[in-house]
Amino acid sequence: MCGIVGYVGFQNVVPVLIGGLKTLEYRGYDSAGIATIAEDHLHLIRAKGKLRNLEEKINGHTPGSTIGIGHTRWATHGKPEEHNAHPHTDSRGGLAVVQNGIIENYVVLRYDLKDKGHSFNSQTDTEVIPHLIEEALLLERGNLLHAVLRAVRQLEGAFALVIISKEHPGELIAVRQQAPMVVGLGTKENFCSSDAIALVQHTQRILTLKDGEVARLTADSVNLYTFAGKPVHRYAQVLNWNRSQVEKQGFRHFMLKEIHEQPGVIRAALARHLVEDRVELPLPPKFLVGIDRIQIVACGTSWHAALVGKFLLEELAQIPTEVSYASEFRYAPPPMDASTLVLGVTQSGETQDTLSALDVAVKKGCKLLGITNRPESRLGHFIEELGPKRGALLDMGAGIEIGVAATKTFTAQLILFYLVALTLAALRRPEYEQAALLTALTQLPAQLELILDAQLAWITEKAHEVNHLHNFIFIGRGINYPVALEGALKLKEISYIPAMGYPAGEMKHGPIALLDSSCAVVAVAMPGRVYEKVLSNTQEAKARDAVLIGVTPRTALAEDTFDILLPVPEVHELVSPLITTVPLQLLAYFIAAHRGLDVDQPRNLAKSVTVE
Ligand code: G6P
Repeated sequence: MCGIVGYVGFQNVVPVLIGGLKTLEYRGYDSAGIATIAEDHLHLIRAKGKLRNLEEKINGHTPGSTIGIGHTRWATHGKPEEHNAHPHTDSRGGLAVVQNGIIENYVVLRYDLKDKGHSFNSQTDTEVIPHLIEEALLLERGNLLHAVLRAVRQLEGAFALVIISKEHPGELIAVRQQAPMVVGLGTKENFCSSDAIALVQHTQRILTLKDGEVARLTADSVNLYTFAGKPVHRYAQVLNWNRSQVEKQGFRHFMLKEIHEQPGVIRAALARHLVEDRVELPLPPKFLVGIDRIQIVACGTSWHAALVGKFLLEELAQIPTEVSYASEFRYAPPPMDASTLVLGVTQSGETQDTLSALDVAVKKGCKLLGITNRPESRLGHFIEELGPKRGALLDMGAGIEIGVAATKTFTAQLILFYLVALTLAALRRPEYEQAALLTALTQLPAQLELILDAQLAWITEKAHEVNHLHNFIFIGRGINYPVALEGALKLKEISYIPAMGYPAGEMKHGPIALLDSSCAVVAVAMPGRVYEKVLSNTQEAKARDAVLIGVTPRTALAEDTFDILLPVPEVHELVSPLITTVPLQLLAYFIAAHRGLDVDQPRNLAKSVTVE
């Protein structure tokens, strides 16, 4: 996790670093720091807590400089204290390093370095790196690139680094090994970062480093090398991102903006993939032929989307489908072979648990279909290397999501699951009539816009009314059970209120013991095969004094059953998750916003989890 940014060029570096770090704070925000070079000195400023603390500390106290590195941290080794914040320096205070990842052999390296007379000021794994480079510089006669290469060959783990040295004031070295690192190409200036998001303010031309590669950046040049020192040639890619995607555009929080972007996300996905009322996905020919089973691996919100996906794949395409937490799958994979399609679902394409699980599946001979919002991610590269017979990638195309709590990317994942399930259904069950479902999908954007326009004030008010409650239980059945899980996750992530998602029918087997007037039961009750069942489950809660909130169409029965109604239109049962999710996102958002919490960057979380 952690965010890294580096710059070398002609601009005053501090605003470039701070601007970049602001867009990267979603990766971690326990502490932050920058290092710059001016007047033959390395200048280091670090602060505990959020970026604004660093900004206050800098407040004009760094001399003008045109080269520097910055870091925002999500603590792994060592508490979030200033002395553990990056950048870390060598014994002479001559070179500075920022790192994202974990150096697994840092304990051994630290002992070795201590024996050689180095002393350490932090509890981090990172601090060994500047000391290793310091040693290597002696052996490489002061050549920074060669010294970094010598040092990284001694490191074990997953890491991305950027290094500057006061003896090399026009040079910046970036390193990638199983953690993201991109280089941004400018004119008489160059950039690097753990996420291209930090660079869109400055350039659209990007070079993505691959694992085991190093880049040497000066103001006028960028050269890539393998860890063995062999030069690498790669063409830049041009991003079609724009600045507005990383701005709030009048919304109080990115999360609220991203909730509002969902109708557009659905519309765009359907426009991309529906051709004359038929689904056409950009997959290699016959990629989905000959599949007997599907295994999905994912984490967090992506795992919830996968549960909806399982329902659709089994119902529409009649393919047995399993969903596993990536972190569990890796160490206990089920039997699989070439007839198993493994679906890896990861918004960021960088979640280490998911990537490790997919590696296990591929080694067992499975085909891999990736679903990601970031095709340039590690998942994208992994699939590219597999080749079109073994791997394919579907781009969610939701645009950059900045809020740590996933919203529009959940919706984008769901849409792709509908389209994959319909594609497989067309192959395996040509008799299945797709028209009704496709019509229902195309009607969704307008229906969601109505909810967002007409009900925003209502949900704000209702969120205020339930703000004092201590405990929320979200219930749903069938295809809306994962929506209950996602509703609970959103609430706990951003409001810190204990919340759980449960299959409605299971409530009586345990959670019912929690119910009293301090507890809310939020029921997702959509007309269809389990509608009456969910309503009767809510009656069990009502009899125990819980406050009942219903995400359901407005009917006399619903008015009578629920204390608070968050009404949604009646839709085709199978598309209902796309409509029922939105009021739950808004409920969580307004509860957290009323509490004055940092909705976009909730405590302890990071948007992309690149450690296991
Ligand atoms: C983190 C984020 C979640 C996300 C999960 C999986 O926990 O905070 O919002 O759902 O990672 O991320 P991925 O990028 O793999 O979908």
